Amino acid sequence: MTKSALVTGATGQDGSFLMELLLKKGYEVHGLVRRLSIPNIGNIQHLVDHVTLLDGDLIDQSSLNAAVKESGPDEVYNLAAQSFVGTSFVQPVLTGEITGLGAVRVLEAIRAYAPDARVYQASSSEMFGKVDREPQDESTPFHPRSPYGVAKVYAYWACVNYREAHGLFVSNGILFNHESERRGLEFLTRKVSNGVAKIHHGLAKTISLGNLDARRDWGYAPEFVDLMWRILQHKQPDDFVGATGEAHSVREFVEEAFRVAGISDWETHVKIDERHFRPSEIYNLRGDARKAKRILGWQPKTKFKDLAKIMVEADIESLNESRKPR
Ligand code: NAP
Ligand code: GDD
Repeated sequence: MTKSALVTGATGQDGSFLMELLLKKGYEVHGLVRRLSIPNIGNIQHLVDHVTLLDGDLIDQSSLNAAVKESGPDEVYNLAAQSFVGTSFVQPVLTGEITGLGAVRVLEAIRAYAPDARVYQASSSEMFGKVDREPQDESTPFHPRSPYGVAKVYAYWACVNYREAHGLFVSNGILFNHESERRGLEFLTRKVSNGVAKIHHGLAKTISLGNLDARRDWGYAPEFVDLMWRILQHKQPDDFVGATGEAHSVREFVEEAFRVAGISDWETHVKIDERHFRPSEIYNLRGDARKAKRILGWQPKTKFKDLAKIMVEADIESLNESRKPR
């Protein structure tokens, strides 16, 4: 029988790759999309004829109830969030509403209208925050360093609680940074790949950045949505870290991105701006995904340099296309 899936955060980076994957696997796919004055469906333009888009907002319980009733899901992937750490310092209440309480609203809708559905919660390595060990795995304590991280910790524990208190099948994927050509423009990797592409085409001279010394475990998003799906195919609900196991600094990513574009004097194109520093930074994240490998057979393949190449080349190409005379 055809399985039905409901994906919140359908227009985001991960939502778009996940819906593609689920369609390939033969699912009937429903994507939750919030109302905006101008629709934001760039990432899913190619999918809109193949999925059912449902109106809804993580702030609005009744819309979530309706979406769950209408989609009758076997699987729900809660990817919607105010996901930008920088903004969470400026809009902590909104971030808590969407990223924290929003997850509980999704769980409540499922408890009422689809209690047999399997639920994936997009948890984050930001929850580890100020780490006391390296690498981080499922047993590493949380010490979030941003309102976003705090909201994700709340959502994580809510999921564990709905599992224990109500017997729902709810699993957390604790994923480290994963990036792609569909990444939002404010995130570091995309800001850099897009900035380098503009410099390459002579459309800009510099990129303005913050802390170049922070280190992240950066992987390729399509491989991480495959992990989300695998987590829900497991016989019991559980929590899994998803990571490449390699950490690199922001500086290394910047250098590599300029190298891909054939620009050697990268330092002359980077300006450091205090506005891009965070009030409390996470200096080093590196994950240990051995549990996901052992139990789910998952292992990411794309390496750091390949990721930079994919992103920079995609941005150079897309600017090329947009500059062609029509
Ligand atoms: P993203 O590109 O920022 O996508 C976020 C999605 O949430 C967008 O579709 C957005 O819709 C939607 N959304 C925001 N507020 C909403 C609301 N009030 N109601 C309904 N939908 C709302 O994020 P992503 O990179 O795909 O990440 C997916 C999830 O994984 C997020 O929960 C993120 O926090 C988490 N995560 C991401 C990473 C990573 O490295 N990418 C790592 C760990 C965890 P609009 O398009 O309308 O804004
Ligand atoms: N965005 C941004 N912009 N980051 C910068 C900049 C800049 O100009 N300059 C330095 N950085 C540093 C940040 O301080 C951070 O240490 C690192 O680059 C990565 O920043 P982001 O790309 O914004 O990602 P993030 O690590 O804060 O959060 C992402 O990953 C989390 C998983 O660990 C987001 O996708 C979160 O939603 C996700 O949960």
